[in-house]
Amino acid sequence: MGSRAHAVVLLLLAVVAVPSIALIKELEPGQVWPERGSVKQPSDLIQNVTDTTEDAVPAESELEDAPPEEVLITKAADLTKNDVQKVDYSGAQVWKVPTDKTGVKNIISRLRRRNLLSTWGGNQTYIDVLVKSNAITNVTRIMKRENITYHVVIDDLQKRIDEENPPLDQNELELQDRRGHRMTWKQYHRLADIHGFMDYLAKTYPSIVSVQSIGKSFEGRDLKMLRISNGKAGNKAVFIDGGIHAREWISPATVTYFINQFAENFDVESEDIKNIDWYFVPVLNPDGYEYTHMADRLWRKNRKPGVVGRACYGTDLNRNFGYRWGGKGASNNPCSEIYRGSRAFSEPETKAVSNFIKNIASNFTAYLTYHSYGQYLLYPWGYDNVVPPDYEQLNLVGNNIAQAIQQTGGSQYSVGSSSGLLYPAAGGSDDWAKAQGIKYTYTIELSDTGKYGFILPTSYIEPVARENLAGLRVLANVVHKG
Ligand SMILES: *[C@@H]1O[C@H](CO)[C@@H](O)[C@H](O)[C@H]1NC(C)=O
Ligand SMILES: *[C@@H]1O[C@H](CO)[C@@H](O)[C@H](O)[C@H]1NC(C)=O
Ligand SMILES: *[C@@H]1O[C@H](CO)[C@@H](O)[C@H](O)[C@H]1NC(C)=O
Ligand SMILES: *[C@@H]1O[C@H](CO)[C@@H](O)[C@H](O)[C@H]1NC(C)=O
Ligand SMILES: *[C@@H]1O[C@H](CO)[C@@H](O)[C@H](O)[C@H]1NC(C)=O
Ligand SMILES: [Zn+2]
Repeated sequence: MGSRAHAVVLLLLAVVAVPSIALIKELEPGQVWPERGSVKQPSDLIQNVTDTTEDAVPAESELEDAPPEEVLITKAADLTKNDVQKVDYSGAQVWKVPTDKTGVKNIISRLRRRNLLSTWGGNQTYIDVLVKSNAITNVTRIMKRENITYHVVIDDLQKRIDEENPPLDQNELELQDRRGHRMTWKQYHRLADIHGFMDYLAKTYPSIVSVQSIGKSFEGRDLKMLRISNGKAGNKAVFIDGGIHAREWISPATVTYFINQFAENFDVESEDIKNIDWYFVPVLNPDGYEYTHMADRLWRKNRKPGVVGRACYGTDLNRNFGYRWGGKGASNNPCSEIYRGSRAFSEPETKAVSNFIKNIASNFTAYLTYHSYGQYLLYPWGYDNVVPPDYEQLNLVGNNIAQAIQQTGGSQYSVGSSSGLLYPAAGGSDDWAKAQGIKYTYTIELSDTGKYGFILPTSYIEPVARENLAGLRVLANVVHKG
């Protein structure tokens, strides 16, 4: 039996073995789920299955047998104290490693299990890894021995972090005082500035802008959502979030840029923009976001403690959504960077989004979630290498968005299904949104392609946001006309 046929059989078996009813009960006791019946279940949707037995490296499920070794990083943080000890990345490096040679992925996984490196971004042929400073000698030796080529992209990570987000100059500070809010797109701002900006817009443009909290984070911060709408009945609705992953600072910066553009220029905006109800949650993981500013620049997850008595913190919110939760590319180890949580929607942040989207009267036509990095426009499914029945449309619209981005700012975005282009990752917000019947569902991995990775200098904010605004206009056109 060929490996493809083998995989098909395995997948079909898996589908048969897990009756959807049981899954539904487990996810949402007492509720009919999913509520909107317009999306077929994946068993109907298998159009292509490729052999995913050798997962792309970021499938950290091998980590499951690993001891809680990220303790060093996770323990550092009691934000209530003033003397927060910042995690220091002096001497740490980021390497780009081609993974097409057989065995490379396994070696990387093994090094990660030994806590010598962690993975950043990657696709099916390359991976970026962060090599800890005390591990560089050993990892270099191992790579040499195994004949694995790589090149050093960042040779002192802490230096990059120190240079990434300089204070605003005097001019900007004066402007800030006059504007009524502190938000700029020349700096990565703290949560208070972002929330203050949202409140300012609601106060200044009450006829079109409103702000509400859709819930609280684990540590009690508001999950603030801003709505922009001309109030016309029959408007289509679009939901946009940012900051699911704490360290991806370009994401909240980009989403707030959209908000600023639409709110401040609503009267002269296009008919497409004006006749859509926009819902923005620019920082969906506020605890993690603040933590990246105060304690560990490279924190990814939320800040809920894992199993009681264990030292590891945080759930990967983008593995915690309740569609095919717990599948490939998600870990059950609370110390893993891709820890899926104790059950679907175990985290207040993901639960808030799901409650909001399910209970609201409007029907969302699009769901966009902004991440970094890699420059990808990804559509479902993420849980495995299968695509929904309307994938050709998603691909076409994705390509049109990518084209607009490229024509505006020059950046090239690759378009494809997230599992197909990158690697399987179950429990993502995009899969869940698609399963709710939201047609145009995309995960957008913003700039760059690895030169700076997560530590993208502030001079990139405006160009990245501007070209992505052009992409968003393409989507708005499709939503409005469609
Ligand atoms: C399915 O697989 C075939 C053969 O590998 C390929 O030509 C085709 O483009 C694939 N379709 C999708 C939707 O990936
Ligand atoms: C994968 O990453 C490498 C290195 O960043 C890049 O050159 C290549 O184009 C990427 N592949 C895809 C399909 O995006
Ligand atoms: C590097 O390798 C040496 C020799 O095998 C070992 O003693 C040392 O603990 C290793 N260092 C790290 C950081 O793993
Ligand atoms: C690495 O390359 C050298 C020289 O080409 C060869 O002798 C050695 O066996 C290779 N090692 C591995 C692990 O492939
Ligand atoms: C949303 O969709 C449902 C089912 O398709 C429909 O009954 C309802 O009227 C729609 N609501 C709005 C506000 O368009
Ligand atoms: Zn992300």
